[in-house]
Amino acid sequence: MSKELLAAADEAAQNAYAPYSNFLVGAAARARDGRVFVGVNVENAAYPLGICAERCCLGAVATAGLKPGDLKEIAITASPCGGCRQWLAEWRLEHVTYRRGNGEVVTVTPAELLPDSFIL
Ligand code: THU
Repeated sequence: MSKELLAAADEAAQNAYAPYSNFLVGAAARARDGRVFVGVNVENAAYPLGICAERCCLGAVATAGLKPGDLKEIAITASPCGGCRQWLAEWRLEHVTYRRGNGEVVTVTPAELLPDSFIL
């Protein structure tokens, strides 16, 4: 399952807008009802305004009306950054699959990626 989802993330990554880093990232999340949502990194000339693929994907999820807890898993073509780990914790994914820099693909929980995450 997570292999399929990573393939969807790889496909989405082709649409990433990353002219500054040339580092294309894709993310694909599967909802409990089976729907799949994708996102890509979208950079901006004002560098800090760029958005990561995971947050773009979760934005599509929220736009469709889903809430934290509605997602089963997410696959990402790269190791999630610190800020995205906080997002993954908030959205309570069961599993996070991602490709490490060395090409290895791993599946972990949000808590493994970010222990003691901030909860409001
Ligand atoms: N990037 C992501 O999309 N997700 C991450 O978790 C790591 C970093 C993007 C942001 C930026 O567009 C590019 O990768 C290089 O940092």
